[in-house]
Amino acid sequence: MAVLGATGYTGIELLRILLQHPRVRVAVVTSQQFAGKRISEIHHSLAGKCELFLEDIQVEKVASRCELAFAALPHKTSMDAVARLVEQGTRVIDLSADFRLHDPELYRQWYSPHKAPHLLRRAVYGLTEIHRRAIAKARLVANPGCYPTGAVLGLAPVFAARVVRGTVLIDAKSGVTGAGRSSAVELSFSEVNENFKAYSVGVHRHAPEIEQELSQIARRSVAVLFAPHLVPMNRGILSTMYVELKKPLSEAKLAELYESFYHQDPFVRVLPYGVFPETKEVRGSNDCVIGFRYDPHAKRLVVITALDNLVKGAAGQAVQNMNLMFGWPEIEGLGGTALVP
Ligand SMILES: NC(=O)c1ccc[n+]([C@@H]2O[C@H](COP(=O)([O-])OP(=O)(O)OC[C@H]3O[C@@H](n4cnc5c(N)ncnc54)[C@H](OP(=O)(O)O)[C@@H]3O)[C@@H](O)[C@H]2O)c1
Repeated sequence: MAVLGATGYTGIELLRILLQHPRVRVAVVTSQQFAGKRISEIHHSLAGKCELFLEDIQVEKVASRCELAFAALPHKTSMDAVARLVEQGTRVIDLSADFRLHDPELYRQWYSPHKAPHLLRRAVYGLTEIHRRAIAKARLVANPGCYPTGAVLGLAPVFAARVVRGTVLIDAKSGVTGAGRSSAVELSFSEVNENFKAYSVGVHRHAPEIEQELSQIARRSVAVLFAPHLVPMNRGILSTMYVELKKPLSEAKLAELYESFYHQDPFVRVLPYGVFPETKEVRGSNDCVIGFRYDPHAKRLVVITALDNLVKGAAGQAVQNMNLMFGWPEIEGLGGTALVP
């Protein structure tokens, strides 16, 4: 396997998981700024566990040495290497946003003109619980965004049951690693610590991704209002969704709806009615935990999900997808419980 962008936050998380995976050997790790150094010089936690030298991305070399490449590169950078790898016949799981939107025009509106638009239709959206069968046969998997994973998993059962009306409000809070290992001033300790702020309200790039997936599940056009927030913690996303229902649903009906939707999914945990998840119970694990309650006074269903943005929101889900693509047990290498406390 190869990890392109191995020095970033999702890259290092991929290595943490892959190094413990019983069927995987990582052969190539890449970096732009640290090519030529050992990865353990950049991430000391890998000393003695992974002593590979970081390389520039050389597509032919990756294709000849690896059955699958994980691309943990920034969007717009990823599409070039991914397209060339797919041409060479290498399977790819892309963690960036470059192949998540099916419509090239939508990608242009939210990012830039796409350099490999012909691959957008071929890419399978890697939300495992929703697209399991297509992922198993895919050559290119577009791993979902961290916010969309929590939002879509929380909302899929009610959209699939076609009981939702109106616009859903998604109020999500993320830890700082969601933005990657960047040196941006607004992500520095003194800016983030003891602070809590909203950003990109109504204009965040994950909104069209969430709408694409919910529209497909609901088989109608779905609109969401997405309000992300930054919280001073390293990992974790807590998403609170406010949903108007066509008619009130009982506690038993809602519980049945959620439990039956996820009864075969090892990494989605549905909590008892009225119990809500916390980010600490998923930190370091591949779990997404869902809680919900209908408020008859406000006439709204409230759904709350918690996940680790670097695991189920990125690297863990990518490994889950890899397992499916190779016909291995879906949970292989992902059995770890959360780091508590
Ligand atoms: N962070 C999350 O929670 C999360 C969740 C889901 C999806 N994602 C997506 O996953 C991707 C990676 O995210 P991240 O958080 O890991 O980002 P990151 O911490 O900023 O890491 C980016 C990686 O890409 C490499 N890189 C940057 N520019 C490059 C270039 N021009 N050519 C070659 N390599 C380059 C960097 O290498 P060097 O700096 O060593 O050169 C680094 O290894 C992004 O597309 C992000 O949107 C992130």
